[in-house]
Amino acid sequence: MEHNTPVTIVIFGATGDLAEKKLFPALFQLFLNNYLHEDRFAIIAFARRPFSDETFGALVEEWCSSVGVDSQHDFEVVKSKLARFLSHIRYHQGYFDQLDAYERLNKVLAEIDERFDECSHKLFHLALSPFFYESVLENMNKAGLHLSCVAGPGITRVLLEKPIGIDAKSAKKINTLLARIFSEEQIFRIDHYLMKMPLWDLLTMHFTEPSLKDVWNHEFIDHIELHLFEKIDIQGRGSFYDHVGALRDVGQNHLLQMLALVAMEKPKTDHGEAFREERRKVVSKLALPKLNRKLPRLIRGQYEGYEHEEGVEAGSQTETFFSCEATIDTPRWKGVSFIVSAGKALDVSVTEAVVYFKNGDRIEFRIQPDPQVTFHIGGRTDMLTWRVIQDHLGHLHNAPDGYEKVYHDALHGEQTGFVSKGEIEASWKCVDTLRKLWTALPLVHYPKGSKPLHFGEKIQ
Ligand code: BG6
Repeated sequence: MEHNTPVTIVIFGATGDLAEKKLFPALFQLFLNNYLHEDRFAIIAFARRPFSDETFGALVEEWCSSVGVDSQHDFEVVKSKLARFLSHIRYHQGYFDQLDAYERLNKVLAEIDERFDECSHKLFHLALSPFFYESVLENMNKAGLHLSCVAGPGITRVLLEKPIGIDAKSAKKINTLLARIFSEEQIFRIDHYLMKMPLWDLLTMHFTEPSLKDVWNHEFIDHIELHLFEKIDIQGRGSFYDHVGALRDVGQNHLLQMLALVAMEKPKTDHGEAFREERRKVVSKLALPKLNRKLPRLIRGQYEGYEHEEGVEAGSQTETFFSCEATIDTPRWKGVSFIVSAGKALDVSVTEAVVYFKNGDRIEFRIQPDPQVTFHIGGRTDMLTWRVIQDHLGHLHNAPDGYEKVYHDALHGEQTGFVSKGEIEASWKCVDTLRKLWTALPLVHYPKGSKPLHFGEKIQ
């Protein structure tokens, strides 16, 4: 992307939780670091609520208030940059199912391009739940928003949040619709975990670190655990979460992508399609637990009080915690179990991959908070305390949340950190099978602030 080409980013769902917590702060961070041009960029915030540009701007100001704090930037510089950033945002009120809103949007885009005196690059970011995708994509198509400006070199790209669909069937429908409107190069399926730099550090280490690359297989590794534990509960997102649950909210995407990065073979090239294909292969080779065992290696739980959350149905059976054991059917991982767990309202917030070696050694790759890698090496014990020595190997990238890179890479047309259609299909196949399996399992209720649940615990 040429730095001078103007950029217009349209965010559908601009008043939502994601926009507040991640999207606007990431965009402001990019602006602060001069990645977005001082004048030649615009953001159009598309949402249903009746805000003026001023009221919406005041909200964004609040959402971005911690960006730049503790950084190399001077307080006054951050303040004046924020004021300029806000001046580039326009609020666009509209309902996702009403064509008129998209036609008006098309006019607004034309006006903006006229002001730039050039066809801007356009990113349409669907920061929405998958239930809206069909209607938004159909209306974009009808209003001609998918077409690039006739007179210029501008690009038009569409970014979609996870989950794409809620099962294999609905995902296929969305992918078919996308293919009818856009070419595959224009479609960017987001999983912001794939943009978290510490995860790439982990990948690079197991590919290249001499002490790791030769032992990264079933001969040396006993099992690997992947955790995405959160202290937060569903934070008012009941109407979305109750239809999705932990497995589809973070399992089908973030955790399976983490698993893919931990277990994939080295691709022929370090980016592009070959890379995505290696990730897909891992997910397509996953084998799930059998339920005909006494103690199923599968658990699903719900925090107490969940069913009284706004937007949640009384008697809801939606899980807010799950843990599942799987194996990967490849020569490298023969017999190694992968235990994948995630949950909300727990006593800890941590995302990590923990690798347990057969000789008792253990390596923890902490992705967040405070990304770091720690070796627990059993062969060496402290002579005074007889405790196992922990070698703190070093910090991983303490990188931003992921969305700076989402926008950066989407503008550059770099697809490596985005999810391919094949990966989506493979992951839904696995998640659908798991969901069928676990309907036979009771839901475990746990108090808020509990420790993560483990297999074989007492079921209430
Ligand atoms: C989102 C999920 O995709 O990821 C949320 O919808 C979850 O439920 C979040 O809290 C976790 O992301 P991060 O970057 O805060 O770890």
